[in-house]
Parts: sequence; structure tokens; C-alpha cells
Amino acid sequence: MPVLSLWGRAMICAVTAHISAAPGDIAETVLMPGDPLRAKWIAETYLDDAKCYSDVRNMYGYTGMFEGQRISVQGSGMGMPSASIYIHEMLAEYGVKTIVRIGSAGSITTDLELRDVVAGIGASSDSAMNRVRFGGNIDYAPVASFELLQSAAKAAGEQNKKLHVGNLLSADTFYSDDAALHEKLAEYGVLAIEMEAAALYTLAAKFGARALTLVTISDNLITGAAMPSKEREVSFGDMVELALATVTDS
Ligand code: HPA
Repeated sequence: MPVLSLWGRAMICAVTAHISAAPGDIAETVLMPGDPLRAKWIAETYLDDAKCYSDVRNMYGYTGMFEGQRISVQGSGMGMPSASIYIHEMLAEYGVKTIVRIGSAGSITTDLELRDVVAGIGASSDSAMNRVRFGGNIDYAPVASFELLQSAAKAAGEQNKKLHVGNLLSADTFYSDDAALHEKLAEYGVLAIEMEAAALYTLAAKFGARALTLVTISDNLITGAAMPSKEREVSFGDMVELALATVTDS
């Protein structure tokens, strides 16, 4: 029986506050870029028969077919508060089982070059989210799905692409000015800074789902080097192909 959502719209249960998909509209496997227009671009470029299932707040979500498998692409927005809303609703209400975030990151080591791809095996964070979640006494370690990581490594080999695997920092601040902290994090093996992985890994664990974060290095926070926007597009496409091979193989 239709019920009224918080916002007064008639809905059939699985319509959540931020995603207007009907039950079953979202595939069990989701690729998640930060930018909703990239979600649209991925759907139009790589998926057959792609249909938009949600445009609430212009945070587009699409479902289509890739090599015989149903795949969705959902924008997350920037940062853990925004991403957590979409991740939570997909896992809690829409039966999503696998999420691969595809985004960009700033490297804090000269060992990485612009355009390199990093798979986050774990995600450290300066966010208070997990301190709040675990009552302040636990430094929870959000980690990627081993299965997806293995599959990404295999796909990278098959596509002849270099893939770094390491710890990321999921930060709440994009414009940080603490170079000394970046240096210390690099000393302890953190490769790059992005803004969503820790929340994705934590929520995937909570809901018994699989998650992985793949990021392209778009800038180097030590040297100040940054990728021109045209190259961002090309390298983003390369990473999407790696992500699609990762999810279709596992
Ligand atoms: N910080 C956080 N996220 C990012 C960065 C950064 O420097 N570069 C690309 N995504």
C-alpha cells in the first residue's frame, strides 16, 4: 500500500529521502563517482539501455547493462556526510551488495605520479564520524573488500595498468594547510588524500556488503603538480574501465 514519505510524496516503501528509485531499480552492483554528471557520463558511455532512476537534488543514478551484468552508477557528492547518505540508503533500502567508489585524490608522496591509480586497502580519517559511531574509545579501521581488491589487481594486470594498493586518508577538509601532517602520514604509509573511502568501508561493513575505492591521482600536494582537466577525463575513463572489469569478475 502506498505510504507518504517524510516529504509528503506518495511512495512504495523503497523510495528514500534522497533517492527516488522504485524497489528493484538499483542493481546489486554500483559504481560511485562523486560528481553526478560523471555518473551520467559513465551510464551513457559504458552501459547499454541505461535508465535514470533518480534525479533528486540532481544527484543522478542510472542502471544499465555491462557485458550482460546489471550495473548502477550513483553520484555521491563530495565528502563523507554526503556520500554516507547515498551509501546508507542504497545498502539499507535497495539491497545493494557491492559498491566501488571511483574518484580522485591528492598524493602526499613523490612515489606516485599524476594519473596513477590507487586502490585503498584501508582508509584512515580525520572525520569524527567513527569516533561518534563507536563512542569515542575505538579507532575503527575501515578496510576494503579483499575479494574486490584481488579482482581489481587481476583486472589491472589484464588491462596492463599500474595499480598501487595502500592506505588512504579520507579527510573532511579539501583545502588543508597542514603540510607537516601530510609528511607524517606519508611516513606511516598513507599514499593519498580523498574524502569518502572511510565512510564507504564502514557502512559496507555495517550492512555486510563489499566495497572498494579506486582513485586517480589528480594532484600532488607536495609538488603542487595538477592534472589538466582534459587529462582528468581520459584518466577517469581508464579508471572506469578498471572498475567495470573489477565488478564483472567478482
Ligand atoms: N584532498 C582531498 N580530496 C582530493 C584531493 C585533495 O587534495 N585531490 C583530489 N581529491
